[in-house]
Amino acid sequence: MAEPEDIVRAAELLLAGTGPLAAKRVLISAGGTREPIDAVRFVGNRSSGRMGVALAAEARRRGAHVTLLAANLAVAAPAGVELVETPTAAELEREALAREGEADVVIMAAAVADYRPAEALVTKRPKDRTGWTVELEPTVDVLGALGASRRPGQLLVGFAADQGQLGLERARQKLTNKNADLFVFNDVGRDDIGFDSAQNEVTLVSGEGERLLAKAPKDEIAAAILDEVERLLG
Ligand code: CTP
Repeated sequence: MAEPEDIVRAAELLLAGTGPLAAKRVLISAGGTREPIDAVRFVGNRSSGRMGVALAAEARRRGAHVTLLAANLAVAAPAGVELVETPTAAELEREALAREGEADVVIMAAAVADYRPAEALVTKRPKDRTGWTVELEPTVDVLGALGASRRPGQLLVGFAADQGQLGLERARQKLTNKNADLFVFNDVGRDDIGFDSAQNEVTLVSGEGERLLAKAPKDEIAAAILDEVERLLG
């Protein structure tokens, strides 16, 4: 017999119905990329992927076809989504650009490295008493590239992990610079929300202004973000 959770999920899908996201193609990135320095070390970040995974689960629940670009998730991917492993910024860039053409909605929730080591050693660098200088080079801004070449009707959502009022101001600028429809601003200056936490509090920034989503479990925040996506889809 199938597992009870799988039966519940199948029933949810049957009932998922007719909302604006039903049968839409949604591409979501989640987690944080890791950029290799040598065979065992990497430059990474603290993103667990919880927020992106919650969004993927909720989009699936609403009947969307979801592709999840997974960058080193610390949590399990939801059932019923197409899972593509994208551990580095280069892989995430390649897979996102290969798939965005057919996506109705693209949500870039992953913390993509802005820089990667210019050179990655194929073996492990042995320890010695001297220092080690690692040169970093910029990665491609995937969301920026998607925004520059987007087709009409496609909805683009970005995330901004920043601090305080100035961070919110920068999120507003990113909305314009990256040609996105919606930015989700996460105040990483607070330690009770965001990274590694099951809760989040975010501000939605769109062309129409800003709206604070009060602190709540990440699956509730995901549902509120997708309510806004559905509203913008019209
Ligand atoms: N992003 C991306 N490709 C990158 C870096 C970031 O697609 N190489 C996306 C992230 O997934 C996120 C948004 O862009 O949706 C974050 O924008 P970014 O300008 O990178 O913001 P931060 O890194 O948070 O801030 P800053 O640029 O100020 O460092």
